[in-house]
Amino acid sequence: MAVDVDGVMAQYQAKINERLGLFFDEQIEEASKISDYTRDVVANIKEYTLRGGKRLRPIFLIYGYKCLTEDDNIDAIIEASISIELMQSYLLIHDDIMDEDELRRGKPTFHIEYKNICAALFGEGEARKFGENMAILAGDLLEAYGMDVLTNSRFKEEYVKRALQKYTEIVKNVGYGQILDIMSEKKKDITEAEILLIHKLKTASYTIENPLQIGAILAGAVEADLAVMSNYGLPLGLAFQIQDDILGLFGTEEKIGKPVGSDIREGKKTLLILHALSNCSEKEKGIITSAMGNADVTMAEIDTIRDIVRETGSRDYSKRLVGEKIKEAIHAIEGSNFRAEAKEFLVKIADFVGVRDF
Ligand code: IPE
Ligand code: IPE
Ligand code: MG
Ligand code: MG
Repeated sequence: MAVDVDGVMAQYQAKINERLGLFFDEQIEEASKISDYTRDVVANIKEYTLRGGKRLRPIFLIYGYKCLTEDDNIDAIIEASISIELMQSYLLIHDDIMDEDELRRGKPTFHIEYKNICAALFGEGEARKFGENMAILAGDLLEAYGMDVLTNSRFKEEYVKRALQKYTEIVKNVGYGQILDIMSEKKKDITEAEILLIHKLKTASYTIENPLQIGAILAGAVEADLAVMSNYGLPLGLAFQIQDDILGLFGTEEKIGKPVGSDIREGKKTLLILHALSNCSEKEKGIITSAMGNADVTMAEIDTIRDIVRETGSRDYSKRLVGEKIKEAIHAIEGSNFRAEAKEFLVKIADFVGVRDF
């Protein structure tokens, strides 16, 4: 039986979005009892969460469950899966404040949306600060929402407790990763190993490994099951972030829905840049270093950096690493004793990570 990955993804995306919609309607109802302002913020969080997104994390959570068990409680696992998408909204909203990005999923980031709302309601003064404050609060609410969903999920109490532990572990690890990510903007001599550690903490664990594990925990996983999910999820998550950095420099804004070249503007030393810096001429090094962290960098300068990254073989180097990590992930899952249909899906979705252009 051949798994149709696109079809399966579309089917789950629709179910996940439906659940998210219902969840937010309850929260809007609750917030509306407090004030129109709180209601509006929650309604905007709903719009933000539902405006797009691949829903990879809830899909991995569902498949973590399906690795171990038949589809008997599929509605309950879909309900639980939105916890990780609520966390995703929380992390993205805060990440965009830190990265000073203005576009997410093709529309204004949350803090920019509220900057505009403030400007329209109360004038331009302090509008940026107002927007950021509202976005911090929206993130806080979303973190609580995610916990709420898991706490109320319809599984054995013991499993729910373990799943919640995993959830808080994710928030901590992403926090550690983001601390190092912010530090890396300032640090002059960062190594490839340090970049890969940041990728592991800020992306790999919360995107693939941990969602799979939460799903598996809700199906009653033992430690050996969780270990297989780490062996699959960590390399694949690294591949995902490296690919994300490639798209962040070489992709198009229409496809990725976020600003192109933002890592340069922010001075983020991705693997692409690190490799280029150690393989280019002194003159090219000057071009890259003066653009890094320069908020006013032009598209022409970004184009020149693209050429340098291509010509030094840095793009190919990153692409090769993506390919190797995907192979490693596939090898780990193929050797497992998980259910055949889930395994087949996980093998195929691993390939999607390497070819995706959004
Ligand atoms: C974006 O994640 C943040 C990273 C970890 C790179 P996704 O690429 O999964 O974003 P959405 O949810 O599909 O928008
Ligand atoms: C995102 O990291 C990781 C999160 C914790 C959300 P990035 O800053 O690299 O991701 P994008 O490019 O903004 O999606
Ligand atoms: Mg970012
Ligand atoms: Mg970031």
